[in-house]
Amino acid sequence: MDSTDIDFINPTGFKIDFAGLVEFERGLDPIHPERSAVPCRVLGFGEISTVFEIHAATFDGLAFKRISIFETREELSKYLLTYQEYNRLLEQDIGVHLPRHGHAAFINQSGRPVFYIIQSKLPVPAIGNKAMNLLPREDAVILFECVLHELYKVWIFNQRQADCQVGIDGQVSNWVINQFDPIQPRVEPGVQLSYVDTSTPFIRYHGVEQMEPELFLRSAPSFLAWILRWLFLKDVVARYYDFRLVVIDLLANCCKEQMPELIPDLLVMVNNFFAAQARSLNLEPIEAKEVLSYYREDALIWSLYLSMRRVDRFLHHFILFRPYPYILPGRIKR
Ligand SMILES: Nc1ncnc2c1ncn2[C@@H]1O[C@H](COP(=O)(O)OP(=O)(O)O)[C@@H](O)[C@H]1O
Ligand SMILES: [Mg+2]
Repeated sequence: MDSTDIDFINPTGFKIDFAGLVEFERGLDPIHPERSAVPCRVLGFGEISTVFEIHAATFDGLAFKRISIFETREELSKYLLTYQEYNRLLEQDIGVHLPRHGHAAFINQSGRPVFYIIQSKLPVPAIGNKAMNLLPREDAVILFECVLHELYKVWIFNQRQADCQVGIDGQVSNWVINQFDPIQPRVEPGVQLSYVDTSTPFIRYHGVEQMEPELFLRSAPSFLAWILRWLFLKDVVARYYDFRLVVIDLLANCCKEQMPELIPDLLVMVNNFFAAQARSLNLEPIEAKEVLSYYREDALIWSLYLSMRRVDRFLHHFILFRPYPYILPGRIKR
């Protein structure tokens, strides 16, 4: 690796041990990340990213989201521009709070461009899906109401734009409660939430997706790419631009978190919000059966998809004899 290949460090307010990060990447074991040369723990798995805590003194208090979907530097540079624009839009124009963040990008030992989003590591119990399990029922409803207000900011912004549309993944696991006390877990209306899931920048200018749509499919098994190209880009990406679907997706998280009993109260809260504050968006009320059927379909699609990715990994290792570059989650309880 030539040092001129090392690029794009932008720690905005962080002092990053860049050599240490390159070292971490070099010793990373994508099949068993916990066996990597530099010790680490996976905090979360995504479609395109894996979130790590790296156990080295210089990385204390930081979360690293590793994205390795890029094949060329140009692809990464282009993505980076969209990523930065997304952060700017959310923080400055829309008013969604993000954790302190920076990034680093370089070409790794296999010649592959890798991108790390670096954020302050936020406390696990304060992450929405963890917090909702700790909170009294009324407060869990307040948490969802606060998320709804944050999401609504995006659609107020979109309503004012002639040529730009912003999408967002509203899932409860993407929001972190500031100043959350896990010993006495409470949430007050208007509490500040931070949005962590910035790795997929959903921006459309004049209806054109700014993140290269092929990148969404990069980690998909190649034998599925043709059908996904047709299905996925049309429906899966479009739903992040549709307020009502983003809210249904958020409500379906109650099923994923094994708390479906919250849904009736949440539906009252959401439908009141649609009829009052969000009246100008003209949204049909949401019904419980829509949330349940959405959840069933979504859970099925993602579990099938993950199985196919495991098959693809197997093919890489044992048939193609090529390294499989992505990190896959273990079994997910739903
Ligand atoms: N800054 C952070 N601090 C602590 N945990 C985080 C942070 N960012 C993400 N996580 C954990 O990792 C999970 C996945 O991260 P996220 O950014 O939502 O990516 P994706 O959903 O695309 O995997 C989050 O739900 C959260 O549990
Ligand atoms: Mg997420």
